[in-house]
Amino acid sequence: MRTYKELFELISKHIAETSYGAEPRELYEPINYMMSLGGKRLRPVTTLMACNMFDEEIEKAIPAALAIEMFHNFTLVHDDIMDNAPLRRGKETIYKKWNMPIAILSGDLMMIKATESLCKTETSDIIKLLKKFNDIATKVCEGQQIDMNFESRNDVSHNEYINMISLKTAVLLGGALQIGALIGGANEEDAGHLYEFGKNTGIAFQVQDDILDSFGDAGKTGKKTGGDIAADKKTLLLIELLAAAHKDDKKLLQELMNEIDDDKKITGILQLYHKYKVKEFAEAEKEKYLQLAYRHFNKVNVNADRKSILKQTAEELMSRTS
Ligand code: IPE
Ligand code: IPE
Ligand code: MG
Ligand code: MG
Ligand code: MG
Repeated sequence: MRTYKELFELISKHIAETSYGAEPRELYEPINYMMSLGGKRLRPVTTLMACNMFDEEIEKAIPAALAIEMFHNFTLVHDDIMDNAPLRRGKETIYKKWNMPIAILSGDLMMIKATESLCKTETSDIIKLLKKFNDIATKVCEGQQIDMNFESRNDVSHNEYINMISLKTAVLLGGALQIGALIGGANEEDAGHLYEFGKNTGIAFQVQDDILDSFGDAGKTGKKTGGDIAADKKTLLLIELLAAAHKDDKKLLQELMNEIDDDKKITGILQLYHKYKVKEFAEAEKEKYLQLAYRHFNKVNVNADRKSILKQTAEELMSRTS
């Protein structure tokens, strides 16, 4: 079994060797920039990991792993426009470094390149893989739009939030595992449990992302701390605060949410987050979804030594700082 580090190095080498194109450079430079910025490479690594659970030959999952990472990077390029984010992986976001039209078009092409790469998979049923991939991509777009719709609402429920993050984030983590497992020769049942394992881990992953956005260290996350608060994102932290705040604090929170000075808004709302211990609440929620994920993990019918690395990866993600 390959380790995370080995798989990370393998996929990083393939990403570096992939040529996306050169001319017109306004279109290709941002793609090369984004793909070379790094990141955790979590999704392609787990695609390879899932393939490796069923097969020693993991090279055959490389085109799909690349496709999933390209798709993920495409969503980030457009997400940064939608979220007004200045920083990504410690560097300027594409729409800031170049401009909005360039970020839109280079993002679009990354999506096209993603399906192109997926189609290079040697399989007897490429239509099946493409269909799964497109189903997931559709859900991510749905989740992203719901996330935007929530910015102007203050009555988002806990369940609505979980549904939104399942769509925008968790299904891709599930899909990365499912696709890798199928390429490795897994049956539908095992691949299905891996999808559910990835999806529930993905929910916990996004809760951790929300925690890091408010409480993380920008030097480690590579993103601007407090961005979610500034953008009125309905994260679990804010939903919990809206539910728990007493009358006077609720009024203060409403005032802070209308504050136009971002720094004042972020500092004020963070104080309320501390007062109502919403981070602790979110940590408990993460644990709940991790346990749900394990139920599916336990049902995957392969030897324990072939799957322990996946559980270890999920555990490490729960306390990630970047
Ligand atoms: C960021 O994903 C977007 C979310 C779904 C939270 P990652 O945290 O995996 O970002 P990179 O790829 O490591 O930069
Ligand atoms: C993004 O969620 C999910 C997708 C890009 C599909 P976020 O907006 O929370 O991701 P970050 O924090 O910008 O990475
Ligand atoms: Mg977003
Ligand atoms: Mg964002
Ligand atoms: Mg975030």
